[in-house]
Amino acid sequence: MRAVDLIRKKRDSGEHSREEINFLISAYTRGEIPDYQMSAWLMAAWIRGLSRPEIAALTEAMLHSGEVVTFPEIAGMKVDKHSTGGVGDKTSLILAPIVAAGGVSVPMISGRGLGHTGGTLDKLESIPGFNTTLTLADFRRVLGQCGMALIGQTAEIAPADKKIYALRDVTSTVENVGLICASIMSKKLAEGIDALVLDVKTGSGAFMQKEQDSVHLAELMVETAQRMGKKAVALITDMDQPLGRFAGHSHEVIESLEVLKGRGAADLRDLSIELAAWMFYFGERTKSVDEGRVLAQKLVASGEALEKFKQGIALQGGDSRVVADYSLLPQAKSRAQVKSSASGFLAATNCMEFGVALAMLGGGREKKEDPIDPGVGLEFHTRIGDRVTAGETLVTIHYNSDAKLGEAKQRIVESFHISEQQPPDKKLIRRLVGV
Ligand code: URA
Repeated sequence: MRAVDLIRKKRDSGEHSREEINFLISAYTRGEIPDYQMSAWLMAAWIRGLSRPEIAALTEAMLHSGEVVTFPEIAGMKVDKHSTGGVGDKTSLILAPIVAAGGVSVPMISGRGLGHTGGTLDKLESIPGFNTTLTLADFRRVLGQCGMALIGQTAEIAPADKKIYALRDVTSTVENVGLICASIMSKKLAEGIDALVLDVKTGSGAFMQKEQDSVHLAELMVETAQRMGKKAVALITDMDQPLGRFAGHSHEVIESLEVLKGRGAADLRDLSIELAAWMFYFGERTKSVDEGRVLAQKLVASGEALEKFKQGIALQGGDSRVVADYSLLPQAKSRAQVKSSASGFLAATNCMEFGVALAMLGGGREKKEDPIDPGVGLEFHTRIGDRVTAGETLVTIHYNSDAKLGEAKQRIVESFHISEQQPPDKKLIRRLVGV
């Protein structure tokens, strides 16, 4: 078999056999297919689409590109959550310690920033010393010691996703349900979980902007998990505006710590609690999601979730003093304001553009090897439905280099739609798939 023939087949709308997909994934993982051929195939798959059998074969080939871990030595259910990605989406940093503090183990394999969205790994790495590249043995040890461990795909676990994810990020081949399903489910099914809670974003800051596409993606992922014998549910949640008040790596760590201290933005807190509640229910720690919600709130109020995060940071080599002293996190040197050009109600945002602007300022990658500037960030002062007046600050930009500041500012200001009409309220959690 030759990669060039598979690229041509997909380019011409053909359907791959399982053997062809297995060849593509295993040869690419071994380094026998170069990035340029994989990029061409990804673009062909993005444009032509993948059938359900192709998505199933791709997910399984990527899952079996590395080890499928089990944790027989750790008692009880292991449960994880994964989000399809958005702007300011930092719930993993909040719910992993809540759920671990409640006694359910969370072995979490996450990703880096993808497209305009931020990644859990990059956020955690803004904590000085935090190691997201633990060996499998250390992943086990940390999980056993504190009930949570957060790492990236490795050469041992989900190596195909590690390589393909980085390539998709810089070749504009992210927003495709088949590729997203295979990417997410291959790493989640490799991490030894019994159940998975999916947060599928919808709206202008999501990869799937239309609700019907988000539901389709959610159904594909839930079906994949259930086919593999795992419990799964997907929450379709709003991404028409950033989640919380901050986007940018250290800023999001601080905002997560604030929620764990019982403060922080209501939308971020509510969604984190809801996802944790489902994890408690699936983890058989509570008899219902309602009970899970109460337990999650209690663990935040008592400070146990915060303590758990501190322990997790230390066990992964990070400086846990950041929990009390935010000045230990990287910070940007300068600030600029983006002001409203009109008065009225904030009716909508083009949320993806905030992520693009952040990336331009150094908070994202244009090439695989680009470093992230963890100190840059966007602070949002208004929410959809708020009344604003001309000249009012909508966003504070925290930046280090002004090379692209003008362009970033322009993108941000153009992303706000101010109207005379107050927009109708939108629900944070739109619906559930899989129950
Ligand atoms: N998150 C992932 O892990 N993979 C994707 O493709 C999109 C979001």
